[in-house]
Amino acid sequence: MGLVNLQSLNRRNLFQSTGLIAAGLVTAGVGVASRPTAAAQSNDPVRLVANENPYGPSKSAQKAMSDSLGSGWMYSASEGRILREIISDREDLSQDHILITAGSGELLKMAGLSYGMTGEIVSAKPTFSMLVAYAKGAGATVKEIPLDQNMRHDLSAMEAQVTKHTSLIYICNPNNPTGTVLDADDLRSFIDGVESRATVFVDEAYVDLLDEPKHNAMVDQIRAEKNVIISRTFSKIHGMAGLRVGYAIARPDIIKRLRPLQMSFQNCMGARAAIASYQDFEFQAFSKNKIQECISVTQSTLEDLSLPYTPSVTNFVLFDTGGSVRDFTLAMREKGLLVGRSYAPYGSWCRVSMGTVEQMGRFSDALREYYKG
Ligand SMILES: Cc1ncc(COP(=O)(O)O)c(C=O)c1O
Repeated sequence: MGLVNLQSLNRRNLFQSTGLIAAGLVTAGVGVASRPTAAAQSNDPVRLVANENPYGPSKSAQKAMSDSLGSGWMYSASEGRILREIISDREDLSQDHILITAGSGELLKMAGLSYGMTGEIVSAKPTFSMLVAYAKGAGATVKEIPLDQNMRHDLSAMEAQVTKHTSLIYICNPNNPTGTVLDADDLRSFIDGVESRATVFVDEAYVDLLDEPKHNAMVDQIRAEKNVIISRTFSKIHGMAGLRVGYAIARPDIIKRLRPLQMSFQNCMGARAAIASYQDFEFQAFSKNKIQECISVTQSTLEDLSLPYTPSVTNFVLFDTGGSVRDFTLAMREKGLLVGRSYAPYGSWCRVSMGTVEQMGRFSDALREYYKG
């Protein structure tokens, strides 16, 4: 289908009342070029800590939201369906394969709960902890397998831990906090080897930032009806972390299993923003470009200072401070920069999230100053 065609969706009234048609966002699908928003220009400490994207939301998403302010009294209904339709259309799947959630975080928790109550979880360490933490909270046993020496998932060590008690294997690819990515064909072979025994959950929060997202995304595994769940989010390339929109892609029987665990009702504004942003290819290219520029500024400073780092394909970099991460983060805080923490077992390594290009220049200056003495 490509861009949303309202008549075929038969939801003209909804968009007329919200102004999306007038804004040309639904049919044109292309937004006004975006610039960093007010938050990125304020005097608050610069947030280089939570893998957000200050280049978002796109102007098209902002317009979709401001045009629908007056509709805030309504429970959301059609927005979620429209979002499912455009996503399923792009992924060449039926709508039954898509579940819209409150950020991908809600989905991670739903899966942690559902699969944690019925078996063991196998995960890497360190990795994004939300699913594992929720599963542990539900009383599940979690086997946490160290990353390999390149800070990537050790797929054969993980496979060796899969038993008849395993219900789910969590693979965050690209991985947070290391910024590393698995070879896509290795991951496909891994899925082939284990999916008859346990569900493979692939967290693709950062997949859009890769050079070849289509090759790296595991959606072909779902088209092939494999026992796989993919999570995606509007928080990263779309810069909409505060708006809480994410989604699952999985076989309909798996979606059916997860849906009853959903806690949140669809956020209407977030969904409208997501519909606009999803079709705003100009913004997505702009956003990706800026993030890659930030990564390159940051990595070249780290190189100049001979600080080891993992080459990142995401919107954050994990690097070795060579000392106490606490001292380092406190020193950065004094310069008005909030940077991340360390992740066991990499005690002296610290994660820094990408802000704007200008902010990463500030961070680079602060780094040079810190290591000067
Ligand atoms: C790998 C990964 N998955 C999921 C999330 C959750 O994002 P959200 O709930 O905003 O979609 C994050 C957030 O940083 C993440 O890094």
